[in-house]
Amino acid sequence: MRLITNQKTLKGTLEVPGDKSISHRSIMFGAIAKGTTTIHKILRGDDCLSTMQAFRDLGVVIEDDGEVVTVHGTGFDGLKKTVEPINVGNSGTTIRLMMGILAGRPFETTLLGDDSIAKRPMNRVMLPLRQMGVVCSGTDGSQFPPLRIKGTSNLKVIEYKMPVASAQVKSAILFAALQADGTTTIIEKERTRDHTEEMIQQFGGNIQVDDRTIRVSGNQNFIGQEVIVPGDISSAAFFLVAGLIVPNSEITLTHVGLNPTRTGIIEVILNMNGQITIAKSADSSKAGTITVSTSHLKATEIGGEIIPRLIDELPIIALLATQAEGTTIIRDAEELKVKETNRIDAVAKELSKLGADITPTEDGLIIRGKTKLHGGTVTSYGDHRIGMMLQIAALLVEDGTVELENAEAISVSYPNFFKDLAGICQLKKGEIYG
Ligand code: S3P
Repeated sequence: MRLITNQKTLKGTLEVPGDKSISHRSIMFGAIAKGTTTIHKILRGDDCLSTMQAFRDLGVVIEDDGEVVTVHGTGFDGLKKTVEPINVGNSGTTIRLMMGILAGRPFETTLLGDDSIAKRPMNRVMLPLRQMGVVCSGTDGSQFPPLRIKGTSNLKVIEYKMPVASAQVKSAILFAALQADGTTTIIEKERTRDHTEEMIQQFGGNIQVDDRTIRVSGNQNFIGQEVIVPGDISSAAFFLVAGLIVPNSEITLTHVGLNPTRTGIIEVILNMNGQITIAKSADSSKAGTITVSTSHLKATEIGGEIIPRLIDELPIIALLATQAEGTTIIRDAEELKVKETNRIDAVAKELSKLGADITPTEDGLIIRGKTKLHGGTVTSYGDHRIGMMLQIAALLVEDGTVELENAEAISVSYPNFFKDLAGICQLKKGEIYG
């Protein structure tokens, strides 16, 4: 599709859609709790719809009246063997967290997804689950989906030192641990997003977190709750960067989730001299309003413990760095290679096609700014965040057009992205994109 180019000012206020990580988990906890869970402002992106369908396949009744999603919880014990394989589509969060939930269910399930899912590494989840007594394997003995997983009602507790910093792996082990007898200990490599730990408590359970060490006991009872999903900072990130790099801009984003395990991008923007203000909401310290305006940006270095706190924002941060004076270095981010696509290669290749000066490394990117971008044909590689990043880059292109292949992938996390962006660009009906 043809992207929006050549924007001279962006103005407006926007509420981005619900947080993807929290939306997945609210369905999951709703299902494993007893009683009714109501979810407000849930993300209806393709990934979360995959999670909803997975639980319907397992016999959970989930209603959606377009406003509120209602999950009629069955508890772990009420989940039923599926007739067909569970199809997770493009969703790594669905497949990995489902493995933890299925770990304690004494029946066999097949989990499969799209071409991207078929390449995502699963040993990181299968190895700890096997230690707990689960029988699981990928296609032809490999680690890749389709996966077969046979859970057990006699899960063993483990003490597990995680070799990768991954909230998905941590969450899978936590879901399994909740079905084991005794206390499981997880030691994280770096602290990662803690939405699962938060929801264990929100749904009435107990968990101990001491820096990178997490302890949780099995056989806990969860009770249905009312959940209000905050806006996704990972979706807000595209508009934050747009407001910083397009001339004469000011953008305000309301009700954005501000969980500290997710806000690395705000620290980076401040380090780069970006004009950004944050007002925390009175009713919830973990959501707030963020305003950005056009800024004279300088390069920065990004690595170490901050990486898991901005892992999904690195493609759009790379674009930001193309508009900053100096050389930005991103390191310790090898996990980008095993996302929906290899995001190190995809970012370097596609932004270079538009004129950026960017070199991929083993564990990150080197970006030299500030560069003027030009038109071209680019691809999302079927990766929603690469697609959205390229559309924000296109806003800066003054001459020529930008064509994006595989733009439909964007609906994975932000179905109304182009509509919201058209509003901020103040485009009138009829002169929209596409
Ligand atoms: C997620 C964790 C991260 C992130 C993904 C969502 C989650 O993945 O990239 O978009 O909801 O737990 P990893 O755990 O693989 O780092």
